[in-house]
Amino acid sequence: MARLGFALEAGSHLYPEPHSKSSSSAHRTLALFFLVGGLVLFVICLIFLILLWRYVKPRDIIKKLHPKKVASKTALNFAVNQDFFSGNLRTISYFSYQTLKKATKNFHPAYQLGRGGFGPVYKGKLGDGRTIAVKKLLLDKSQQGESEFLAEVRMITSIQHKNLVRLIGCCSDGPERLLVYEYMKNRSLDLIVYGKIDQFLDWNTRFQIILGIARGLQYLHEDSHLRIIHRDIKASNILLDEKFQPKIGDFGLARFFPEDESYLSTNFAGTLGYTAPEYAIRGELSEKADIYSFGVLVLEIISCRKNTDLSLPSEMQYLPEYAWKLYERSSILELVDAKLMKEGFVEKDVVHAIHIAFLCLQAYPNLRPPMSEIVAMLTCKMELVATPTKPAFLDRKRRKDDNISWETITEAFPSMSDSPATIQPHK
Ligand SMILES: Nc1ncnc2c1ncn2[C@@H]1O[C@H](COP(=O)(O)OP(=O)(O)OP(=O)(O)O)[C@@H](O)[C@H]1O
Ligand SMILES: [Mg+2]
Repeated sequence: MARLGFALEAGSHLYPEPHSKSSSSAHRTLALFFLVGGLVLFVICLIFLILLWRYVKPRDIIKKLHPKKVASKTALNFAVNQDFFSGNLRTISYFSYQTLKKATKNFHPAYQLGRGGFGPVYKGKLGDGRTIAVKKLLLDKSQQGESEFLAEVRMITSIQHKNLVRLIGCCSDGPERLLVYEYMKNRSLDLIVYGKIDQFLDWNTRFQIILGIARGLQYLHEDSHLRIIHRDIKASNILLDEKFQPKIGDFGLARFFPEDESYLSTNFAGTLGYTAPEYAIRGELSEKADIYSFGVLVLEIISCRKNTDLSLPSEMQYLPEYAWKLYERSSILELVDAKLMKEGFVEKDVVHAIHIAFLCLQAYPNLRPPMSEIVAMLTCKMELVATPTKPAFLDRKRRKDDNISWETITEAFPSMSDSPATIQPHK
């Protein structure tokens, strides 16, 4: 009976009398209380999470908890965590050395695409069928630790544009540092322009390449969240996809190497003909150095020859000098590659592109137009009004001549700080 009594009592709670007004209003108040309370709690939690996401970095928390444990082994995990917090996770892949070794058949020489100043580049195939280009960096281990390397990789990966080669990921394993890029089917522009392979490009394709490079550089200099000076714009760093759309490669790589040495390295000397005199001689680096190299590249694309060719008759050896001579003689079209001459091209457009190249090659860095103006001029959104002044270029014979000191050469070239206001246009 006692049990039944309990059941009845409990039942009376479960099924309250429908006509009990005070009881139902009490329930309503209780429900409202939980609803409002729940909502307030939810908003507080949301604000807390937003603040946490915005101001607290996972690396800081771990550093505080285990100050001594922040070692290279865990750096990779930090990197992944940070990428998760910054929303970059989907853009970076971390490869094991074994994976890349397998993809490149143990870095077999037959898979080597080339070798530049940063190290050899191999073609590889991943297990999922993707073709990649793997750059094995020749870094002195003491120069950069794993976490710094990963930070640089993340920085480069965050810079994306259709005219920049995409960095898919990296590998950091003991002393090994490797970068994994998308593979570009038509390799690099130097192979075509310097005649290493038999591939003809018509004027439309060449113009698309010039415009694409200009757009890629504009992004690096002006539109990206970081200001990047490439420092090594040249034909081998322009990669071409299956449709011959250009993509600039190797941007940001200079960051892996000590600042003060890069511009005077042996590798650098190899590409002297692309280098702006103020950078080569004084180490004055700015976007204007890339703009100068772009000017050299445009002339190379139009003429299909190297910027410096000492096997040619002396007046033709230095491309900017030779082009200027032809321009002064009003016979600039003689610069155009013989094959292109044969196939035909739009004369006005080629002259327009050469004019822009001359603007980029001017001795006074301040006179060279910014990349956004170059893009506007190429796409005819901006009129070409400026008259170029005589190009500056480095003469290899002078560098070899021991009787001429660096100081003597320096005097011949204006500095970044020199005002172009005092100069006289040549034409
Ligand atoms: N992503 C890629 N896809 C296809 N080929 C590539 C790729 N990256 C590089 N290559 C090839 O590998 C060659 C070597 O490239 P690398 O960048 O190491 O040397 P470089 O451009 O001649 O000199 P630098 O070290 O000054 O850039 C290039 O000329 C190019 O043909
Ligand atoms: Mg390169």
